[in-house]
Amino acid sequence: MKMSKIILETKRLRLERIGFEHKTALYELLANPKVHQFFPKVLDRNEAREFFEKIQDRDRTDGHSFWAVILKSDLSFIGICGLLSQTIDGNKEIEVGYRLSDKYWNHGYGTEAASGCIQYASDTLSVTSIISLIQSVNKLSIRVAEKNGLTFEKETMFQGLPHLVYRLYLN
Ligand SMILES: CC(C)(COP(=O)(O)OP(=O)(O)OC[C@H]1O[C@@H](n2cnc3c(N)ncnc32)[C@H](O)[C@@H]1OP(=O)(O)O)[C@@H](O)C(=O)NCCC(=O)NCCS
Repeated sequence: MKMSKIILETKRLRLERIGFEHKTALYELLANPKVHQFFPKVLDRNEAREFFEKIQDRDRTDGHSFWAVILKSDLSFIGICGLLSQTIDGNKEIEVGYRLSDKYWNHGYGTEAASGCIQYASDTLSVTSIISLIQSVNKLSIRVAEKNGLTFEKETMFQGLPHLVYRLYLN
């Protein structure tokens, strides 16, 4: 059975399964230094290909992953947002993650895309709580989390770096 490409829609956005048609725009996003100022590094072409393959592996294994964020008005690819399985302090968690091209910041798209994912986690995956893992310096990301009702829970180490865990209980 062929899996549907569109995962969810919000007022202005469509989130769809990442495929070959998104590769060029995705690689450009992953090479953008402004988008990755709070990540260890931007990704070169080989690393971006590995990232792309990991997105697809997660999708096959978990049934969810990063999805492409598409602007409904002109079908532009504006970034990625999605639901990622993580193990934090020994517990299995679902993280809502987001990265948008800086060209599309300051329109409320980050909050809208994350909100759509949280709704999907609640309605379709019946997840009981959702987290975001955010570095304390990443104020824009903290703002997105707080606008969607997530609150600070604790600090943890994630990928070798200190992160804040923000959480929202669902259902
Ligand atoms: C974090 C990130 C996704 C935020 O994206 P964004 O779309 O600019 O964020 P928001 O949804 O908060 O919108 C920002 C502003 O748009 C403005 N805005 C303009 N039009 C709007 C509208 N129609 N609706 C809502 N907000 C609107 C608002 O002022 C809002 O800020 P405020 O609510 O704090 O005043 C983006 O900065 C990013 O990709 N960062 C790099 C990657 C990253 O760090 N990811 C997180 C890792 S933990």
